[in-house]
Amino acid sequence: MSFEDKVVIVTGAAVGIGKATVIAFAEKGAKVVVADIDVEKGKQTSSFIGGDAFFIELNVADRKSVNNMVKDVMNRFGRVDILVNNAGIYYQGDVIETTEEEWDKVMAVNLKGMYLCSHYVIPVMLERGSGVVVNVASEAGLVGIADQVAYNVSKAGVISLTKSMAVDFAQKGVRVNAVCPGTTETPLVKNALKRSKNPENERRKLEECRPLNRLGRPEEIAAAILAMASDHLGYATGSVLSIDGGYTAK
Ligand SMILES: NC(=O)c1ccc[n+]([C@@H]2O[C@H](COP(=O)([O-])OP(=O)(O)OC[C@H]3O[C@@H](n4cnc5c(N)ncnc54)[C@H](O)[C@@H]3O)[C@@H](O)[C@H]2O)c1
Repeated sequence: MSFEDKVVIVTGAAVGIGKATVIAFAEKGAKVVVADIDVEKGKQTSSFIGGDAFFIELNVADRKSVNNMVKDVMNRFGRVDILVNNAGIYYQGDVIETTEEEWDKVMAVNLKGMYLCSHYVIPVMLERGSGVVVNVASEAGLVGIADQVAYNVSKAGVISLTKSMAVDFAQKGVRVNAVCPGTTETPLVKNALKRSKNPENERRKLEECRPLNRLGRPEEIAAAILAMASDHLGYATGSVLSIDGGYTAK
């Protein structure tokens, strides 16, 4: 699988799944854009990759920030081949505990962020008649996981966004797919565990609730994102791939 000279934007690429994804694309020859709200860690990731990799400060929930990011990428490379909508945040709480502010924040980053990035990037892809968007949804978008209602709903929305965009642009050369990771060892999960009363216990529960009896590794999710973006899966659009240790197969 080669991505030689492809221009790839990954949002939320400073750490976690996004970082593993930009590293994997760069290893396959792509020119990667590390787009993240975290300037310090984002710059660290782009300098770790070196070569053509570059960092752009981005808030996916802010229209102007997204528009500027796409302009920057076009000025530098003149094209976008692949967009990975990965940036996401997590809040815990059922529908009673979740505040309106938390609800709005999760929707703004996890769902509107993917809409905004697609809104500005897909026209650029259409000009060349080709492109692939990979959205990072979650197992939480497929089933109701307890105590994280806003997150679940945002990820279910990402799956619908994926299918909707896939049918809208299939005839125009742009494919749109989603991956649904299960719990994966990233800062997002480590921070959520730290906030729990008994992190070790919580971790064991997260492992034991899935047939493979372990958490995922960011590199394993990155591999699925690359597969979805690759020409080898050229017949896949509107596809939703679970990589969750069997969690949603039960
Ligand atoms: N880790 C998991 O278990 C898991 C499981 C399923 C789905 N996911 C999804 O995978 C994606 C990546 O998750 P992760 O675990 O690597 O998270 P993470 O918290 O480790 O990393 C997320 C990155 O997104 C960036 N970010 C946050 N808000 C942003 C914004 N408004 N604009 C731009 N960048 C922003 C952060 O700075 C960070 O670099 C998310 O969409 C998450 O919902 C994660």
